[in-house]
Amino acid sequence: MADLPLLRIAPSILAADFAKLGEEIRAIEAAGADWIHIDVMDGHFVPNVTIGPAVVAALRPHTKLPFDVHLMIAPVDPMIEAFAEAGADTLSVHPESGPHLHRTLQTIRGLGKRAGVVLNPATPVDEVDHVMDMVDLILVMTVNPGFGGQKFITSQLDKIATLRRKIDQHVADGGTPIDLEVDGGVDPYTAPLATGAGADALVAGTAAFRGGPSAYADNIKALRSAVAASR
Ligand code: DX5
Ligand code: ZN
Repeated sequence: MADLPLLRIAPSILAADFAKLGEEIRAIEAAGADWIHIDVMDGHFVPNVTIGPAVVAALRPHTKLPFDVHLMIAPVDPMIEAFAEAGADTLSVHPESGPHLHRTLQTIRGLGKRAGVVLNPATPVDEVDHVMDMVDLILVMTVNPGFGGQKFITSQLDKIATLRRKIDQHVADGGTPIDLEVDGGVDPYTAPLATGAGADALVAGTAAFRGGPSAYADNIKALRSAVAASR
């Protein structure tokens, strides 16, 4: 096991009980989560509304795990600082959510946070080509953003594999490491497809939170075991 590549599981609290988010985060941490994925939606960039910086700040004392904040809001730039101050560790943005992606990434890094770029299913992979030195994480959407519980779009596996090659080349050329995360429809069947293509971090909403707190440890173990069995 020790020589297996690192796999990070990032449960999305979109699938948690919103009336008990603090408890839910503590339970999913105890169940073996690595990061907490927080989906921020504005009803404009995506057709759903979720949570804002005040909720992120309220959740911050409930866990030491990194907050992996996925911003689905436009324009994104005016909100970056508020989420950074609320306790985000990684702030990931869609290129379509602002006019100057490079500047947005500079802002995030300037606030001392890890910067991520999110690629929608129809967003070309080369969007990241000229910002590789500005990102700590690339998030590949395997559903269209806006809702949990959707079906994994397998056409994105090629994109994940292409990004794996780009990241490996970037690191071989002396660049800093970049996490390759996949978001949407991840379950014990699709997780090995994503990691087989080169992902090293998996967001899981439904698959992590289904069945309530007593099931969380088994849910996370099922994802890790499915990936381990495929390697
Ligand atoms: C969709 C979100 C996802 C979502 C994943 O816009 O970015 O993080 O919560 O949920 P599942 O794992 O249920 O597809
Ligand atoms: Zn997400």
